[in-house]
Amino acid sequence: MNAIALQALTILVLMVGFQPARATDVSRAENLFRAKCAACHSIACNRNGPKLEGVFGRRAGSVADYKNYTEELKNSGIVWSDDTLDAFIRDPGKLVPGTSMTAAGQIEGAKDRRDIVRHIRRQDKRSDLCL
Ligand code: HEC
Repeated sequence: MNAIALQALTILVLMVGFQPARATDVSRAENLFRAKCAACHSIACNRNGPKLEGVFGRRAGSVADYKNYTEELKNSGIVWSDDTLDAFIRDPGKLVPGTSMTAAGQIEGAKDRRDIVRHIRRQDKRSDLCL
């Protein structure tokens, strides 16, 4: 087998090998979001909790048409990023004492938190979804 054929074969094997893993991660993240967040949140619609559309780079408590924020969250000075989202869902009441987002939104596993945050970022790009 010549070098180019070998390279092509390697690339093919890598593509086939990695595809299912990525698909599994995506659905794992989606399932986590559904199980842990979707009861109160969607991307595009306010529910019990505020919509998460455009959350990255946005100040906490700033969705204009969501009326149920606590003063504590609005005054927290937090800007949402991968890190602040991770800290919030790790322990909402620790990052923002007095928040009305309860322990129901608390995620213990670091990988679970990372997957959920990535999922929100992915969904945000298709922000017409009311999950
Ligand atoms: C039991 C309902 C509930 C669950 C479950 C829940 N949340 Fe919340 N969430 C809320 C409420 C209510 C607020 C508003 C809190 C406040 O104003 O103090 C909120 C606020 C937030 C905010 C701040 C948004 C903003 O506009 O500043 C983010 C981000 C967030 N939640 C993400 C999540 C994620 C991610 C999950 C899943 C891991 C989750 N929440 C699970 C009810 C929930």
